[in-house]
Amino acid sequence: MSDENSIVERTSRVTRSREQARQSYNSMSRFYGFLSSGSEKKFVQTAIEGFLKPHEGERILEPGFGSGQVLVALARAVGEEGKAYGIDISDGMVEVTRKRLAREGLEGRVELTRGDAASLPYEDGFFDGIFMSFTLELFDAPEIPVVLQECRRVLKDGGRICVASMSDQGKHGTMMKLYVWAHRKLPNFVDCRPIHARAFVEDAGFEVTSCEIMSMWGLPVEIVLGGKGS
Ligand SMILES: C[S@@+](CC[C@H](N)C(=O)[O-])C[C@H]1O[C@@H](n2cnc3c(N)ncnc32)[C@H](O)[C@@H]1O
Repeated sequence: MSDENSIVERTSRVTRSREQARQSYNSMSRFYGFLSSGSEKKFVQTAIEGFLKPHEGERILEPGFGSGQVLVALARAVGEEGKAYGIDISDGMVEVTRKRLAREGLEGRVELTRGDAASLPYEDGFFDGIFMSFTLELFDAPEIPVVLQECRRVLKDGGRICVASMSDQGKHGTMMKLYVWAHRKLPNFVDCRPIHARAFVEDAGFEVTSCEIMSMWGLPVEIVLGGKGS
């Protein structure tokens, strides 16, 4: 297991407040679905089908669901006996996702909440699985362990968490330098900064059973699957 302080210290800080994050995602909510389709979709699909593997009857949570594409896939995977749950800080994203679920006829199979992933409004041991894509890396370094501890608390023993995140591991080529430059210049728009997701997941006490670094537009993306032992 890595030393948590050193991971937190090695990770860059985020100064944006919750309210600023909420406003920023509210303003992007109507067109976010277009921005995040395409390449990002491929990663999310790999993470769900190849890592989390949700099954019928399960309860699965997605913190930071954005425009709700993954919730549609999760709701279909868990079927009528299961349920998908989403929590997102942006009321705009909640609204866009509510409409998407209605169009897909899945309103009854997904419970949406506007709230903060660092303080989850669910009871201990409620979920079989948690999926989080391009969201953990938005939190300030000392908050990442808080979010993961909340995820651990609401997971059942034997439950699993899958995190897909921009990664500071792997090759750091020109695209990464450009991305980090853009993140510094436009931290409200280019807000997902690369982190070492695996180290954070391990430090939160999960056993990492799979981890892969893939490339999206030349940028490393880490997909990590962790289990909460019984
Ligand atoms: C970069 S988007 C990722 C959306 C989606 N998971 C995807 O892969 O396309 C991050 C999402 O996290 C949400 N978010 C940001 N801070 C949050 C917080 N503190 N708690 C819950 N959701 C948050 C944003 O509103 C946004 O919908």
